[in-house]
Amino acid sequence: MKDFGFIGTGNMGGALATAVSKSTKSVLLADHFAEKAAELASKLGVQSADNLTIARECRYIFLGVKPQMMADMLSSVADILNQRDDVVLVTMAAGLSIETIRKMAGGNFRIIRIMPNTPVLVGEGEVLYSPAENVSGNELEFFIENMKYAGQLTKIDESLMDAGCSVSGCGPAFVYMFIKGLAQGGVDCGIDKETSLSLAAQTVIGAAKLLMSGDDNPDTLIKNVCSPGGSTIEGVKALEQSGLETIVENAVKAAYKRNIELGKA
Ligand SMILES: NC(=O)c1ccc[n+]([C@@H]2O[C@H](COP(=O)([O-])OP(=O)(O)OC[C@H]3O[C@@H](n4cnc5c(N)ncnc54)[C@H](OP(=O)(O)O)[C@@H]3O)[C@@H](O)[C@H]2O)c1
Repeated sequence: MKDFGFIGTGNMGGALATAVSKSTKSVLLADHFAEKAAELASKLGVQSADNLTIARECRYIFLGVKPQMMADMLSSVADILNQRDDVVLVTMAAGLSIETIRKMAGGNFRIIRIMPNTPVLVGEGEVLYSPAENVSGNELEFFIENMKYAGQLTKIDESLMDAGCSVSGCGPAFVYMFIKGLAQGGVDCGIDKETSLSLAAQTVIGAAKLLMSGDDNPDTLIKNVCSPGGSTIEGVKALEQSGLETIVENAVKAAYKRNIELGKA
């Protein structure tokens, strides 16, 4: 028996497997493309297998396939899963509820629904989680303990999972677009591309850490950078005129709408 299995070792499944294998080597990896799982397993010092072996031998099974592939993947392992009473399924699929996963797998499975993001790969992820009612306290505790190298774990009501996904699951893409703009501004002002990208990325890291380290809200922190008659206030005015905050808000709402659609598909 292994503690953790991953079916699908793409961007997200691979990032989560990387985080979990820093806590334990009791991990099996499988992917459509067997070589992909084998290569990652060798890098992480764990073993690769196939979907059926994972369904038979792992206690916590991460379902790392795209939402559109979930029904097919689960139906191919459902017979084995339904013979077991010690398995916890961990779903990260955008838009798919715990009840939907249960229907697809054909049983009242213990399920932890999570919504991770790609910075999990470097231990700075945000992982929203919502356990089904039949997951025990001990099962959840063991799961959380072994996810500690993924980043920040936040318990959230399942009804808010699609909303949370639209902020932290999709958010890295939105932040990278902001970083690109910040860096391009530097390039336009004469800095070389590589240096400017590094300045922009570190600025986002530092600003986020400062926000999380104290009680000041973003408005206070903005004020702290803006001296009257100085340069920052001019940039802030330009962002306000372009409607930056509304633009970002609309991006979250567009992602939310799609998450809801995915859940109904
Ligand atoms: N990417 C993100 O930032 C993010 C954030 C939050 C949640 N998620 C969720 O994470 C899940 C995976 O997304 P992703 O971005 O990691 O996708 P991805 O990079 O395409 O990874 C999915 C992997 O699963 C493999 N796969 C497909 N069907 C399979 C099967 N039946 N058995 C074994 N492996 C199979 C795919 O192989 P092939 O390519 O050969 O089909 C691929 O390697 C999705 O449900 C998504 O909603 C992703």
